[in-house]
Amino acid sequence: MKRFGLIGFPLSHSFSKKYFSAKFEKENILDCVYENFEIPKIEQLTAILKNNPDLKGLNVTIPYKQQVLPYLDSLDASAEFVGAVNVIKIGSLNKLKGYNSDYYGFMESLKRMLPQNFSSMKSLILGTGGAAKAVEGALKTLQIEYQYVSRQKEGILSYDQITPDLIKSHKLIINTSPLGMFPKTESCPDLDYSFIGPEHFLFDLVYNPEVTLFMKKGSEQGATVKNGLEMLHLQAEKAWEIWNA
Ligand SMILES: NC(=O)c1ccc[n+]([C@@H]2O[C@H](COP(=O)([O-])OP(=O)(O)OC[C@H]3O[C@@H](n4cnc5c(N)ncnc54)[C@H](OP(=O)(O)O)[C@@H]3O)[C@@H](O)[C@H]2O)c1
Repeated sequence: MKRFGLIGFPLSHSFSKKYFSAKFEKENILDCVYENFEIPKIEQLTAILKNNPDLKGLNVTIPYKQQVLPYLDSLDASAEFVGAVNVIKIGSLNKLKGYNSDYYGFMESLKRMLPQNFSSMKSLILGTGGAAKAVEGALKTLQIEYQYVSRQKEGILSYDQITPDLIKSHKLIINTSPLGMFPKTESCPDLDYSFIGPEHFLFDLVYNPEVTLFMKKGSEQGATVKNGLEMLHLQAEKAWEIWNA
């Protein structure tokens, strides 16, 4: 039996176990199982590896995407570039290699949304957490200019510094904050949406609900909008590809 799993804390709302269990069933993959390892401390990773010698791969979620780095033997270019890991491949002699499939998932999903001439676009990244790092890496790769927006981080543009001209000149706006996520679906990033127009593209990493308030407000102004569901599926399939390569 090949075992895969997720480390993080808490894991009550996690997507991966449901996704991979359904995939194994649908694709008649009989020799694989997927398990949640809800660990309050990253130090417990060592015991998980020791007690599960059949582990072949792990997903990593909040709050360990950076804390896991000292436990790894090597990093793929994606993880090195982003500075965070959300996939671990467990090789022979239990060697651990870290990857970032959020980076691939976001980049691919974004490319499917944007027009051909996207590299002339300027973008705003709302939020400065773990997911934002993967978004930043993808924007760098795609050579899309970006600016971070943060509630309170020093030296970074704050929401009250966003002028109408800044919104008008930044045609791609990416929400990497949890605002709007179920059950707090009535919240959205604090922008003046009246300056958004049909030339704007709003990408929300949130995938539940399907249409977030951020997306709804963008759509009402004629913008093209997309949620994080495709990204989520793409990053999961990328993890599967990594584990089976
Ligand atoms: N679709 C996908 O595949 C995918 C993958 C990863 C994550 N996500 C989603 O992306 C979201 C963020 O994930 P994450 O891991 O980056 O979380 P995180 O580390 O908690 O960071 C989110 C960032 O958003 C900002 N933020 C947090 N609470 C906020 C609030 N109440 N108002 C305004 N800004 C707030 C913060 O930046 P400042 O303090 O600088 O404002 C924070 O650093 C979650 O909803 C997650 O489900 C989706």
